[in-house]
Amino acid sequence: VHISAESSVENLDEMTAEELWQADIDHVVHPLSVWPVIKEKGCTIMERGAGVYIYDVHGNRYLDSSAGLWSVHIGYGRKEMAKAAMQQLEKLPQINQFGDSASIPAIQLAKKLSEFTPVGLDHVFFSNSGSDANESAIRIAHNYFRLQGKDNKKLIISRAGSYHGSTIVTSSISGKFADPALPHRPKLHYLDDLVSFVSSPDVYRMPAHLQNENFCDHLIDELEKRIIELGPDNIACFISEPVMGLGGVLVPPPGYCEQAAEVCRKHDILFIHDEVITAFGRLGYMFSSSERFDVVPDIITCAKGITSGYQPLAATILSDHVYDVISAAEATEPFAHGFTYSGHPVCCAVALKNIEILERDKICDLVLDQSSYFEKRMAELKDEKLVGDVRGTCSIFCIEHVADKKTKAGFAPELGIGARLAAETLKRGVYVRAAGNLLFISPPLIISKDEIDMLVSVLKEAERSVARQLS
Ligand SMILES: Cc1ncc(COP(=O)(O)O)c(C=O)c1O
Repeated sequence: VHISAESSVENLDEMTAEELWQADIDHVVHPLSVWPVIKEKGCTIMERGAGVYIYDVHGNRYLDSSAGLWSVHIGYGRKEMAKAAMQQLEKLPQINQFGDSASIPAIQLAKKLSEFTPVGLDHVFFSNSGSDANESAIRIAHNYFRLQGKDNKKLIISRAGSYHGSTIVTSSISGKFADPALPHRPKLHYLDDLVSFVSSPDVYRMPAHLQNENFCDHLIDELEKRIIELGPDNIACFISEPVMGLGGVLVPPPGYCEQAAEVCRKHDILFIHDEVITAFGRLGYMFSSSERFDVVPDIITCAKGITSGYQPLAATILSDHVYDVISAAEATEPFAHGFTYSGHPVCCAVALKNIEILERDKICDLVLDQSSYFEKRMAELKDEKLVGDVRGTCSIFCIEHVADKKTKAGFAPELGIGARLAAETLKRGVYVRAAGNLLFISPPLIISKDEIDMLVSVLKEAERSVARQLS
């Protein structure tokens, strides 16, 4: 009822599909992309969406197994979302939120979010992207300690393989790109002095002498040793994703989040949970921290699913004790950090509508009800020749490809395994996000069992086709 996909293939705003393809190559600088490849091959240009499907400019339909970028939780084409945006655009598109004026949707959204956050996390700082939310969390953590006279507490502990954003600070704390231990660290400048990386909870690649039962203790020991080595008086925060996304959808061993938070508390270090991917239903709860992982962080960051990607919006949610310090009477200087579009009224109105839909359509329950089916079907891919591991939970998965299942050695990057697989699925009507040897699966949360079946059978066909190409 709520989902539509009106075709307008005839009228692509007065450019033909070919002209659009060429203009994209000539004028658009794509984010996080290999530019020579785009210049040579161009892109598949998407025009519209409905439910779990997106359509390209030629009218071809694809099941979007990446939900935009892990974001379109409620699916595409929801007219009521457009209406919510339009109504707020007509009323008040923007105001100055610095200090002395506020907007109705931002107030309502902050109040609504505090209904779902773990107890005591009731204060919301809005921004526009996951990167902004994490950058803001770190600046708030620094300010929190500075105001207590602990100016040295600046270091950030992050994890190998993590992704927290693309600003200079958030990329520097993203182990996926900035970890000095990486064999091929991308050659950008990073703030190496600000961050220290500990191991990721990668069960598939855990050291050979460990077992599932003692892997968690091993990781927690490493974290505490690192804290002692660096000196707790020099460390502001530990940042982690509940389930690591771009690092390969790593679900931590039981107890990991709780114990990491406990170690942080013991050493007066803020525990920041980056729920940019995991919040708003991806793991079956509005926030996964307390409901799935039994942890109450000092700060939660979120973005993506907050509007289901219909508008850019993010939030840095602070616990009472953090907010009490940064807003105490002594904090008389303005906090020199904020964005023109912080708490943008239109984005907040769209987020409110998105949350209304998530609740009304019981989308979290749908994810939980379907999770064991989805997990079981995805696990079938483990038998495919090129697949080393399939992991994930609820509605987020990763398929890791290896050249040798025993040694777990990956394929050489030149083989472009992920890209080949993505091309094969695209031919068969499924859009998949690939990075190196990894394929990421995180469709809109409204995916049905039939659509899961279709997705898994296309993935199998693509795996077999690429395996044939390689032999
Ligand atoms: C866990 C996590 N944190 C932060 C970000 C950055 O979000 P954005 O791209 O909105 O800046 C991402 C993006 O994928 C993410 O996955």
